[in-house]
Amino acid sequence: MLSKLLGIRIFDLEASSRCNVRCRFCPRDLLPETGLMTQPVYSRFLSQVTLGATDTLSFVGIGEPLLNPLLPSFLLQAKVWHPQVRTWVTTNGTLLDEARLTALLESRLDTLDVSVNGTDAASYESVVRGASFERTLANIDRTVRVIEETHSPTRLQINFVFDGDRATEERIKGYWQSRGVNRFRVQPLHSRAGAIAIPGGCTEDDRNPDGADAAAMRCEVFELFTFLTWQGDVLYCCNDLARRARLGNIGRDAWAGIEERKREIARKGTWPAFCRRCTSPQRHSLFAYVDRQLLSELGGTLRGGAATLLGRKRRRALPALPEATSAAVPRPTGRGAAVATGDPAAVCAAEED
Ligand SMILES: C[S@@+](CC[C@H](N)C(=O)[O-])C[C@H]1O[C@@H](n2cnc3c(N)ncnc32)[C@H](O)[C@@H]1O
Ligand code: SF4
Repeated sequence: MLSKLLGIRIFDLEASSRCNVRCRFCPRDLLPETGLMTQPVYSRFLSQVTLGATDTLSFVGIGEPLLNPLLPSFLLQAKVWHPQVRTWVTTNGTLLDEARLTALLESRLDTLDVSVNGTDAASYESVVRGASFERTLANIDRTVRVIEETHSPTRLQINFVFDGDRATEERIKGYWQSRGVNRFRVQPLHSRAGAIAIPGGCTEDDRNPDGADAAAMRCEVFELFTFLTWQGDVLYCCNDLARRARLGNIGRDAWAGIEERKREIARKGTWPAFCRRCTSPQRHSLFAYVDRQLLSELGGTLRGGAATLLGRKRRRALPALPEATSAAVPRPTGRGAAVATGDPAAVCAAEED
């Protein structure tokens, strides 16, 4: 597996566990407590974890990341501290107005992944309860236009949940292609480790294709992803809606210890009980999926490089670092020293009170 050989890591950071809408298939209501990630929690993460070219900081979580006003600053800080790291945001797109879009593009975001389930008002609004299709569509049309006009390196991508019908998938992709979007992420609907019932989604059988005990099987999501909640807890998985299966907390525990715990779990296969109810097919197919993405990106880069060499393609400049933001970015000068407001352990503990 290419992704395994390269040591690809994805850090799923929960900028917000609050949300402005209620999707029919989302178990967010089951979270025990909700809030926004603070600067001290994020600084602690950035100063403890060394990130390189094979790492992605993915702001997704269970909640809407654009609700956190610090998100553009978080993205920019990631690029300042770890210039090679890739950044990614998955958003429902409902809040992607002009001001937020500008801030995200200036933050040097690599991938803007917008979840849109529906290609007309009736289907979309019955799934994404509380959202307006017209407004989301206007946000996406603006994003396509601004990225094109400013030659922004940020890549816009639409994701949608897949009901298994290839013709529907092609129709949806065709709809977005006609509006100028050419990147997609198709995700199977699943029960989020038994948190929700999903008629028509992945079934119990999907969790265990080899007929072996699910608990004894490894999980590729666990191996590739590290999930950090808005409170700084490192969980086994974002599908642990009760948030009880913790590997540690970024404020209280040393990162090396958390990583070692993770490796030990993968080695021994000691999974928490909710893993038995996991119906996500990605448990068994994520490395292959990431490999396909890597190969397609490599193909795109080679084609782009050839076009540049031939002088056919304009070079794209990164937007300048906004002065106000870069001045505010704390730089690490020693272990934990970057946490601007004092002792990080105390800060994280205070967050939880
Ligand atoms: C929980 S949301 C958080 C980010 C943001 N609020 C959004 O909707 O894009 C992350 C992704 O999970 C997807 N999702 C939510 N519930 C799901 C389920 N039961 N099965 C598969 N994907 C799901 C959403 O469509 C979204 O793309
Ligand atoms: S927008 Fe995202 S977090 Fe909010 S309810 Fe929908 S899937 Fe869940």
